[in-house]
Amino acid sequence: MADKITLKIDGQAVTVDKGTNILEAARSVGTSVPYFCYHPGLSSPAVCRQCLVDVKGQPKLVPSCYTPVADNMEVTTNSEKVLVARQQMLEFTLVNHPVDCPICDKAGECTLQKLYSEWDGAHTRTDVGKQHKPKVKDLGPEIVLDAERCILCTRCIRVCDEVAGQHQLEMAHRGDREQLTTAPGKQLDNPYSLNTVDVCPVGALTSKDFRFSMRVWELNGTPSICAGCATGCNDEVQHARGEIHRIVPRPNPDVNKYWMCDEGRMTYKEVRERRIAGARINGETSSVEKAIAAAETALTAAKSSGALGSYGVVLNAQATNEDNYLLVKIARALGIGRFYMAGRPERPEREDKILRHRDMNPNTTGMRAIAEWGSTGKARSTRQLADDLNSGQLKGLWILGDHVDLDEKSQAALAKLEFTLYQSPHENFLCDKMKIILPAASWAEIDGTFTNAKGMTQRARPAVEPPGEARPHHQLVALLAEKLGINADYPSARAIFFELSKTVPAFAQAQFGADMATVQLRFANSRG
Ligand code: SF4
Ligand code: SF4
Ligand code: FES
Repeated sequence: MADKITLKIDGQAVTVDKGTNILEAARSVGTSVPYFCYHPGLSSPAVCRQCLVDVKGQPKLVPSCYTPVADNMEVTTNSEKVLVARQQMLEFTLVNHPVDCPICDKAGECTLQKLYSEWDGAHTRTDVGKQHKPKVKDLGPEIVLDAERCILCTRCIRVCDEVAGQHQLEMAHRGDREQLTTAPGKQLDNPYSLNTVDVCPVGALTSKDFRFSMRVWELNGTPSICAGCATGCNDEVQHARGEIHRIVPRPNPDVNKYWMCDEGRMTYKEVRERRIAGARINGETSSVEKAIAAAETALTAAKSSGALGSYGVVLNAQATNEDNYLLVKIARALGIGRFYMAGRPERPEREDKILRHRDMNPNTTGMRAIAEWGSTGKARSTRQLADDLNSGQLKGLWILGDHVDLDEKSQAALAKLEFTLYQSPHENFLCDKMKIILPAASWAEIDGTFTNAKGMTQRARPAVEPPGEARPHHQLVALLAEKLGINADYPSARAIFFELSKTVPAFAQAQFGADMATVQLRFANSRG
């Protein structure tokens, strides 16, 4: 027990790890202490004094975010003395604050607004004018500062210094003229800059992309996984009336802690771009049912002529494990002889050792494991796909997902194949070359799993409905399989995963992930 400390908080015995601060110790037993400048993922400068508590034997109240627990310590978090001190600090914080909540983007998720309305509610005693500061100060490509709303907590400075490893923000001037500014010669442009908006406890920092677009209490949040790279940051897709408005990080100590990169946050934009909402046969609009029937006729004919050994399927690192598994399973049942792996090309620069991975696909690890199992180690890259197309070895191809890298020569060869079936969420060059097109759901519209670069299988959940007739890849594969007389009657992605985990050795220990509800956001302060 040498590394454990036992203390009393409001008379209740609490045992926590040595080095824990009082604020976290209190939180561990459900006692909440208010705070502004503290963030569990950052250092504690104890500048706001909102988290004051009484420690027996100490002459003054102490900041609980900064003070480590000690054996036999006796802490009071709710005495008259503590509450009055906190109220005074809140009043002090509000002296020069503009209180422009009705036009503030943070309203509804602002810690200052929350604390004031939850337990203070006192009228102002100030009868002098407020100190004015710049209302719209451009800090960089993504972020605008309203310096009047800033409560000088320094969280944003610490995010840049401690998470992004770049000193881009600092404080200038003193007293009531103190204000946040960019460091000399710098702007706020690091790849993790939007984390400053998340940690800002007030509406001082706003994202240019999100500001003025939606009141936060109208948003619903669906827990999911970022599809931007192989790190697999846990995120929350925030949406209203079927439209995604922003993506924010969801804490996971083993993957992304409290953070995500700016690029990952913007992946929601591609969800609505260039969507394929209906099926096509030879360039003509069709129903999904007719397109599946056409594919079935072609594959049945190829089977009878013994051509399926020269057919191939293309798995995709952008698609879920369930999608890839079902495609491989059905291809094997049909006797399709060739397996290829596709995905977005690597990031040109190296990964940054923070979060951004060079592999810009969410599921390369899972796709490879499935391809290896399905093809007994013979799955090929898109470069080999190009070679096989150019050499005329392939007669038919069934491609799943976006980002299949083919040069012009192999694209021309592709257009000459006797059978081509393409399942895709987005329009791209392949749509002109493939005979049958099926509309697929995108990553924000599906239930399923991705396996990240560390081998962790994590569950993405559907935030919005796919457009038109689009549906998850695995449902499209199952529809065609059933037409071909192969049983593929899975009630859910979970059912496919269950079979996959029993079949593909790499997934023997993997879990599908818990059901987590979409929640309406209201003072959702999960981002610290
Ligand atoms: S801008 Fe926000 S995060 Fe930065 S110091 Fe001001 S209140 Fe704190
Ligand atoms: S690091 Fe990768 S997974 Fe994480 S937010 Fe960025 S793009 Fe998404
Ligand atoms: S949260 Fe402890 S001093 Fe600010």
